Amino acid sequence: MGNFGIYIHWPFCLSKCPYCDFFSQISKNTSQAEIIEAYIKDLNFYHQMTKEKTVTSIFFGGGTPSLIEPQNIERLINHIKKKWHTADNVEISLEANPNTNHPNMFQDLKSAGINRLSLGIQSLREEDLKFLGRTHNAKEAFQAIDEVLNTFNNHSMDMIYALPHQQLNNWEHDLEKVTNFGFKHISLYQLTIEDGTVFAKQKMKLMDDEQAIEMYNLTTDILADNDYNRYEISNFSKPKFECRHNLLYWQGDDYVGVGKTAHGRIGLKATTHRRKIESLTTIERAEELIMMGLRLQRGINKQKFEKICGLNFDKFIATKSIPTLLQEGLIENTKESFKTTKTGFLLLNYIIENIVP
Ligand SMILES: C[S@@+](CC[C@H](N)C(=O)[O-])C[C@H]1O[C@@H](n2cnc3c(N)ncnc32)[C@H](O)[C@@H]1O
Ligand code: SF4
Repeated sequence: MGNFGIYIHWPFCLSKCPYCDFFSQISKNTSQAEIIEAYIKDLNFYHQMTKEKTVTSIFFGGGTPSLIEPQNIERLINHIKKKWHTADNVEISLEANPNTNHPNMFQDLKSAGINRLSLGIQSLREEDLKFLGRTHNAKEAFQAIDEVLNTFNNHSMDMIYALPHQQLNNWEHDLEKVTNFGFKHISLYQLTIEDGTVFAKQKMKLMDDEQAIEMYNLTTDILADNDYNRYEISNFSKPKFECRHNLLYWQGDDYVGVGKTAHGRIGLKATTHRRKIESLTTIERAEELIMMGLRLQRGINKQKFEKICGLNFDKFIATKSIPTLLQEGLIENTKESFKTTKTGFLLLNYIIENIVP
């Protein structure tokens, strides 16, 4: 059985964080009922194209999907289960902000059918939460962590680091706490300044490269010491707790998405909101598979690459630069797979520029 996922995008937030370039609007008087009806229609449309597939993951992403009323979440999950065959161990994730503020929110999300909760903590420190423009404080962060760990068996937390003023020793202390909570999965993102965000308009400067590399190396070392495997550049998990849904994207599996900015891939077909379908060329798909696959520790499986895009990996890539990349210790290239080394992860764009013809 192949993997197949459904992504549900909720494009509303309580406020806009100054670093965030994900599409989102401030939720005011949003009529959830209307949006959910539209999502159900879109799901029916994508079902026509994928009815023979078994759903292995569902992901509610955002924006802030913990703003969706639990009964609406349940309705969407039940609808998917009614339309598609669904794997017994289907992973159903939802990204939650710590202070979405329904009483018993996490328990309600669990009752609605969510079995993996991804909590956007971002920082454990008051001053950094303020800097990041978050609407939750450190007390609420710790409280939400407690509730999530007590409610779910499969959980993840997001943190942002390499903030311009951040001290290495403070981050080290935070990582000790983060790794001690007992989350099955941890996502650790270095702050990026994206065009169009408030930080970009303020001309916010990033930490310098050397310091950021030092923080990155400390991060991967501490996570490894605590038995978290770095299976993707920014994602760490305990054995068997990788995010199955995000793996679909990195491995080139099929998925469909509903909601603004949601997209999908079904073989060489790309779907975008709303119900637009276009065909990708084999080369476009191959380039995408390389960019996504090299983010994974296990890299690109050459046989799977050919099955998805129809091109032979070794013939497709620019082989001229391979000996240099090998010599620089940035890649590993075997008959079965092509992958980035730990040092290579720091120079991913350079590797991609050199191998994509
Ligand atoms: C879809 S977003 C947000 C999910 C949720 N609304 C929240 O704020 O917690 C997923 C994650 O991307 C990360 N992220 C977003 N913008 C970022 C940036 N500019 N730099 C680093 N990480 C970022 C944050 O860790 C965030 O939790
Ligand atoms: S980081 Fe999360 S809460 Fe903040 S604007 Fe982006 S999606 Fe919304």
